[in-house]
Amino acid sequence: MKVLLGVCGGIAAYKAAELLRELQRQGAEVQVVLTQGAEKFITPLTFAALSGRQVLTSLWNPAVSDSASAEMPQPFGIEHIDIAQWADVLVIAPATAHMLAKLAHGMADDLLSTIALATTAPIVVAPAMNVNMWHNAATQANLKTLRSRGVHLVEPASGELACGMVGEGRLAEIGEIASAILHAANPIRDLAGERILITAGGTREAVDPVRYLGNRSSGKMGIALAEAALARGAEVTLITTTGRVSSLRCKQIQVESAEQMRTAVLHHLPQATTLIMAAAVADYRVATPSEQKIKKSSEHLTLELERTPDILSEAARLRLPGTLIIGFAAETRHVSEEGRRKLREKDVDAIVANDVSGTESGIGADLNGGTMLFADREVTLPLSTKRKMAESILHELATLRVDRLQRIS
Ligand code: PMT
Repeated sequence: MKVLLGVCGGIAAYKAAELLRELQRQGAEVQVVLTQGAEKFITPLTFAALSGRQVLTSLWNPAVSDSASAEMPQPFGIEHIDIAQWADVLVIAPATAHMLAKLAHGMADDLLSTIALATTAPIVVAPAMNVNMWHNAATQANLKTLRSRGVHLVEPASGELACGMVGEGRLAEIGEIASAILHAANPIRDLAGERILITAGGTREAVDPVRYLGNRSSGKMGIALAEAALARGAEVTLITTTGRVSSLRCKQIQVESAEQMRTAVLHHLPQATTLIMAAAVADYRVATPSEQKIKKSSEHLTLELERTPDILSEAARLRLPGTLIIGFAAETRHVSEEGRRKLREKDVDAIVANDVSGTESGIGADLNGGTMLFADREVTLPLSTKRKMAESILHELATLRVDRLQRIS
């Protein structure tokens, strides 16, 4: 998610730094735009250091040129239009009464208000101001206009204000603003009510206490699915081999071997409405791992391998009625044919067949593509980021769920 964070001049401007961190924790890429007023309260350098990007401040010379951020790459070519198009969502926090007035009247006299006019991305405003300014009829009329145009408003909280007065006008809680941003950037909540169990990463099978047999799976595909499912309103449990992802607000279970993954999947399966197995599970493990580190003695070493349990097939057999199961097929040739074979043999609802023969996409890479195979149809998943591919897979899942419900009723 690409977030443009506009900061206006107000005592709450410092809280925008906290918001930036929270958005980064949720996996967002954040570009900060400061108004001249904001610069009086907090320096561009703070945001440049936190975001790792030059902070934009002026319509005429957007990137600030302080010594630290000047070394960072110029984020955009043709300024305000590029910036406006780049964003998935524009958030203005804190938004002053003056900025609300400019937005309501379509005024574009500085970089932030010009971007707001030029962007087609959803806009979230989180106002902060004096209680009387908030209740002023002009401010309320501007808010009414903005709401009617679909601007997402995160209402200020009530309490003691910087001016010493008490009442509405405090910037809303950071968590509240962050969820409004997430919601605005992902208006599709088609997975609300789904409880999705997702596996990610490659399993490791012990050879001895220090060595293992593994594969190149990074967990990125499974994590992208978890992020996208959460954004679409699902409750997610992630079973992963790749370590905790702090930006993901869901239950995460760390496992290592195929056997541990099997135990975790089968334990959580009864509560799940859908299982998606993006993990690269070992097909073989060492039959008898050595209890001691194997010493270098002879020229050749033979390891006896045995089959691991097929978790996907077992889950398909044991699932409760109504549970949907989506597997993956990682292939280096005859991708669709092999995928179709796995769809039949593993008796699942869909298989995402992807090519893992290269280094640019598939296993370990940031990009992926393939075909989603169903018993009666197939959907091409064009080469894209794993997040985009995850969105397409989840769109198909939502369609499948609706189909099933219609068949029952
Ligand atoms: O993690 P990344 O670097 O982002 O890479 C993503 C990926 C390429 C690993 C992912 O997109 C993918 O293809 N995952 C499935 C990898 C795999 O194990 O494919 P397979 O064709 O060997 O297995 C078919 C299906 O059975 C898979 O859903 C797998 O999770 C499951 N399986 C396999 C073996 C086994 N013992 N138990 C299983 O449940």
